[in-house]
Amino acid sequence: MDKLLITGGRPLAGDVRISGAKNAALPVLIASLLTADPLIIRNIPHLHDITTTLELLGELGVRLEIDEKMSITADAGDITRLRAPYDLVKTMRASILVLGPLLARFGEAEVSLPGGCAIGSRPVNLHIKGFEAMGAEVVIESGYIRARCKRLRGARIFMDTISVTGTENLMMAAALADGETVIENAAREPEVVDLATCLNAMGAKIHGAGTHLITIQGVNRLHGAAHNVIPDRIEAGTYLVAAMVTSGAIKLHDIDSSLLESVLDKLTESGADIKIEGRTISLDMRGRRPRAVNIRTAPFPAFPTDMQAQFVMMNSIAEGVGTVTETVFENRFMHVHELQRMGADIDMESNTAVVRGVDHLTGAPVMATDLRASACLVLAGLVARNETIIDRIYHIDRGYDCIEEKLAQIGAQIRRVPGDQMEARTAVA
Ligand code: EPU
Repeated sequence: MDKLLITGGRPLAGDVRISGAKNAALPVLIASLLTADPLIIRNIPHLHDITTTLELLGELGVRLEIDEKMSITADAGDITRLRAPYDLVKTMRASILVLGPLLARFGEAEVSLPGGCAIGSRPVNLHIKGFEAMGAEVVIESGYIRARCKRLRGARIFMDTISVTGTENLMMAAALADGETVIENAAREPEVVDLATCLNAMGAKIHGAGTHLITIQGVNRLHGAAHNVIPDRIEAGTYLVAAMVTSGAIKLHDIDSSLLESVLDKLTESGADIKIEGRTISLDMRGRRPRAVNIRTAPFPAFPTDMQAQFVMMNSIAEGVGTVTETVFENRFMHVHELQRMGADIDMESNTAVVRGVDHLTGAPVMATDLRASACLVLAGLVARNETIIDRIYHIDRGYDCIEEKLAQIGAQIRRVPGDQMEARTAVA
């Protein structure tokens, strides 16, 4: 298994281009199932989760063309299967998103029930409840969700908990339902808005995306369109924290600052000089150490759970004491144990990490447990004394486009080592 080797201690400086957003690209690719015409999607990031999605779409019979700039044409004119198998769903929970489009267009779908995961139990009851409200018959059998309907009909759906993929799944299904669907307490995340923009370009009638009340007038058919995926606000936030913790200066390109206001606010509070010009964000932290900040995660526009681990890391070398409270997922603090092994001073009190900034971290062998936890360990490696070796980096490849290249370009000492070479190195040492 590949590992990342990082020698910390260098301030990062330079320019980074932000890729398309993983969590916007996945639903938009899956939206291609809603039409028999080709859908062209641009600004797709190079990620393992994208490969898994393409594999899943291929398995269903979608024809895919990919050009060298990662523009993808997805043609779901000849769907041959209506089933998302366990092997794919277990590696990527977002596979559940095929349920809505397949059910709405073909009246039938089968998707493996996603199991628990490293950040919480993550049930899909709200997706299922919504499809039932739209008239589908849903059963869970042999580990699969099996759903059927004649034609979905519009319904009023209240989401007990704000769910990003729940809102997306129901919005896609409602686009082809008979009549009007209203989703109350909908997720307001920019990725939901991006999907609605794409669906509307395909002929859907969706209003209110970006608010808690989304109204969808169902149509009989959707058509092809071309769509540009929005930039990845979490990738952008992660690079900004990389510059913060290394007392560096960075300029991000192809990013929309309105996507990450809550993160920029906290970085400013922590002492960063931030300048926004057009589609760039510059952050200067040269010669300074971050000040600890208090964070509470919550759905958009509040502070994103996907930036929580990175801020725990930042607080761990900051001046002062900061608290980080996770309210979205029940078990998203696996990175804390690894940071402690590098010398961080963190106490857990229920769903709050109390982080006392230390003067320095020390490199150690550490293990990535999920995508954002692995980003946090990369950041820790960039600032720690000596060498950090990160194991199980397949997690990071799920969500960060060319991370070693992008970090090396701004001065990081980072390299990927194949597992077998790593073993040889240990034997010699
Ligand atoms: N929830 C339920 N029932 C449901 C659905 C969700 O109780 O039917 C609960 C979850 O257990 C959780 C909360 O609702 O406590 C919010 O979960 P949500 O459904 O919003 O999460 P998701 O849609 O599965 C997406 C992102 C995650 C991101 C969360 C929160 C995608 C593909 N994934 O997950 O991204 O953390 O929203 O913003 O969009 C990541 O990129 O690292 C990542 C985990």
